[in-house]
Amino acid sequence: MAMNNIQDKDNAMLDTLQRPVRDLRISVIDACNFRCSYCMPIEKYPDYYEFMHKGERLSFEQITRIARQFVALGAVKIRLTGGEPLLRRDLPELICQLRGIAGLEDLNLTTNGYWLAEHAAALRQAGLDRVNLSLDSLDDAVFHRITGRSNGGVERILDGLRAAHEAGFKPIKVNVVVQRGVNDEGLLEMVEFFRHTGHILRFIEYMDVGNLNEWEQDEVVPYHEIVDRIAEVHPIEAVPPNYKGEVARRFRLADGSAELGFVSSVSKPFCGDCHRARLSADGKLYTCLFASNGHDLRQLLQDGASDDELHTAIAGIWQGRGDRYSELRAKHRIDTDADPKVEMFAIGG
Ligand code: GTP
Ligand code: 5AD
Ligand code: SF4
Ligand code: SF4
Repeated sequence: MAMNNIQDKDNAMLDTLQRPVRDLRISVIDACNFRCSYCMPIEKYPDYYEFMHKGERLSFEQITRIARQFVALGAVKIRLTGGEPLLRRDLPELICQLRGIAGLEDLNLTTNGYWLAEHAAALRQAGLDRVNLSLDSLDDAVFHRITGRSNGGVERILDGLRAAHEAGFKPIKVNVVVQRGVNDEGLLEMVEFFRHTGHILRFIEYMDVGNLNEWEQDEVVPYHEIVDRIAEVHPIEAVPPNYKGEVARRFRLADGSAELGFVSSVSKPFCGDCHRARLSADGKLYTCLFASNGHDLRQLLQDGASDDELHTAIAGIWQGRGDRYSELRAKHRIDTDADPKVEMFAIGG
């Protein structure tokens, strides 16, 4: 049932910094088979680490109910994340349910690729539009060092990429988290590897998400430094964004052989246009990747909230939102010791 505070998309509901909600990132599971050093370091998350119990997770029906209200409030894009989302059983079923939401324009998934070869065709058939794949190096030893395990090596992830391409996902974005002294030597090799493939290679500045990766500013390679390194080998030019608030800055090689993206959250924060909400697998709504607290929507559903009540609750949370963590970090070092942030694997980036 429509509510009187539903806004149409030209007159969208705004937060306190005048930002509409456009994207909903849904974590379907917090568990992951990888232990990336910047997300879930193996020393702190050993094999026996207990992730969320099945019974604590939102059901597909609950996720779809929440997603429907977000679309009613202006969201046009949904991204499924994890942990590793392909660890959640029967994911195509959720994709079918979300696909049924009128007004949803773009339904995507971000994966580590380990199970992609197995699932790509079914995901496509269920109605998924696009896939983003995380791959930080083409070198097995570096890949192993970053992901904490051998994980079948780089070739297994590339098999997943090929399967996703064959299943019809296009374009596929390959996300590379760049850490100085860890994988930055291999970036040009990656550019060469992905030229003429149609895949979009994206370099992500290493971020201080979560509380456990012992982030240091000098491990960040600012995006313009990577652009300069590439420019020494290939003429490169900026490309306008596809839409206002796009996360990655777009570039292309001048010979047309590749599009590249740069997620510059540290050196050039983009909070001013941030229109992303994040839902954890246990139903907490976070209004920033660096938030300390989430709003418990699962409890609301368990208390029997109607769709109208859910709608009003989400609208109220968004309208009260004033997050701009990366901008504040850029101005002065934020002390997070007193107020721990949500972990990356709980909200999927
Ligand atoms: P596209 O829709 O394909 O452009 O994907 P996306 O970039 O929105 O999503 P993806 O999951 O591929 O994320 C790429 C990187 O951007 C990850 O490291 C995310 O953590 C980071 N990222 C996405 N949204 C935000 C954001 O709002 N703030 C910050 N600081 N980082 C973000
Ligand atoms: N800094 C930057 N990106 C990160 N990701 C995970 N942790 C970090 C971090 N500390 C990336 C993953 C994936 C995306 C969802 O977020 O590699 O591509
Ligand atoms: Fe898993 Fe992604 Fe975190 Fe790596 S970054 S441990 S693949 S959730
Ligand atoms: Fe949005 Fe928070 Fe990222 Fe800024 S730091 S872009 S407010 S998620």
